[in-house]
Amino acid sequence: MRKFKFLIIVVLLGVGCKKTTQSKHDIIRQTVHESLKTEKYRPKFHFTPKANWMNDPNGLVYYTENYHLFYQYYPDSTVWGPMHWGHARSKDLLNWEHRPVALYPDSLGYIFSGSAVMDKNNTAGFGQDAMIAMFTYHDPIKEKAGANDYQTQGIAYSTNEGETWTKYEGNPVIKNPGIRDFRDPKVFWNEDLSKWQMVLVAKDHVQIYESENLKNWTKISAFRYADHPPLGVWECPDLFKLKVAGTDEEKWILIISHGGESAPNGGSGTRYFVGGYDGTTFTTEQEEGQWIDYGTDNYAGVTYNNTPNKKRLFIGWMSNWNYAVVTPTETWRSAMTLPRELLLIKKDNTYLVKSKPIVDFESLLVDIPESEISGSVPTNFRYDRLQQSVISFDTELQGAMAFELSNTIGENYKMEYNSDNGVFSIDRSASGHVDFSEAFRKSSHQKMNIGQRTNLSITIILDASSVEIFIDDGAYVMTTQVFPNENYTHFKTYLNQDTTIKNFKIKKVKEIW
Ligand code: FRU
Repeated sequence: MRKFKFLIIVVLLGVGCKKTTQSKHDIIRQTVHESLKTEKYRPKFHFTPKANWMNDPNGLVYYTENYHLFYQYYPDSTVWGPMHWGHARSKDLLNWEHRPVALYPDSLGYIFSGSAVMDKNNTAGFGQDAMIAMFTYHDPIKEKAGANDYQTQGIAYSTNEGETWTKYEGNPVIKNPGIRDFRDPKVFWNEDLSKWQMVLVAKDHVQIYESENLKNWTKISAFRYADHPPLGVWECPDLFKLKVAGTDEEKWILIISHGGESAPNGGSGTRYFVGGYDGTTFTTEQEEGQWIDYGTDNYAGVTYNNTPNKKRLFIGWMSNWNYAVVTPTETWRSAMTLPRELLLIKKDNTYLVKSKPIVDFESLLVDIPESEISGSVPTNFRYDRLQQSVISFDTELQGAMAFELSNTIGENYKMEYNSDNGVFSIDRSASGHVDFSEAFRKSSHQKMNIGQRTNLSITIILDASSVEIFIDDGAYVMTTQVFPNENYTHFKTYLNQDTTIKNFKIKKVKEIW
């Protein structure tokens, strides 16, 4: 009996011990989880770093069921600093798993933006299926000393799906020819030529390179575009092919982000050119640059390499250099945009790149019980979780229509479309915190010309600190950040008698944490 009792105690202790270690773990996890959930402005379904500063998405590559997202990261502060590559991965581009920091600065400099590929044929000799990152080394000491050649290109490889990395001992693989802004390599496998090719920005133009082994690179052409006046510094290029929807016509798309005050609504923004690429030179007949997003908060976006279904999947940094370092979040800074699929359409002889939320985003949407909504849907109602929802509708209209999101303390975010002049606009001047930055305040009124229309379809995706507006299935997009003092809970439309709303839907978006 004694022996038996002892055994029972041992078993109980054993179970108890196991439970204690496990629950400690659980408590830590739970605390991080809970703090993410309750932090003001922490997005519920957009990617954010657990803590500290993030900017551009980097190294977007798919491999064995995972979409990898590397990103410009400063792990020691909530403002920009010596750049690392942070790392996360996801099976669906929506639910993310944070991974250890991937790339750290070294004697050649900080690790600026770049891309990643899977070396299926072991062309570099780092192993079959090595994940190879190409990035810019930014040498702050040289920069301070006034040199021009402080940015060079380096590579690193990982043979364990991006968990740990080795930098190539022959870095830099591309030296600087004396150009102050020489960065952001986007490598891709050109399947028409069976070669690695790469686009790189050099201050005010793009350079195109190619390589057999990702180590030795030859410059093959340059693309310039005479903007009057010139736009700000060229950053984060991308070059890829898209089929015009519903046809067999193929075009090449060149994406460029521009710093400074270049974007349609101020600050930094991302535009694209549609054209031809013969394997060496990119050309376009486009008369002016078009923009991936007309809102102020989608920058440095690029697309995934190696996607399983050949979809062109895009992620942007949901901020703007004009005010990114002072946005009112406390423990982290910046989120990524919702992942978007890029599609090409031809409209009145003009090519247009559409960006729409990836199809899988639907899996996060749930119906809202009627009891959670009060007032008159769709024209004036209250829903307490509005800032975690998707509102969509079609409208037939004449003249102007307006709609707004608001909270109980009088803050609001206004949207308006006027079919007389074809302008869609937003007003975030009374949206909440706007005075943390003069530039943010100045960008209160934003607009885009979408043409004079009598039919529109509108989708508004709301998270804790962002509003993403997709018009006509992503033909025109406006992404903006908002920082209300209290969540928005009300939606209201202002319609004249010639305007109707159809197919109205509001759904809740499940949180990803
Ligand atoms: C774009 C950018 C890139 C650079 C990186 C530095 O936002 O300026 O050109 O590589 O950020 O963090």
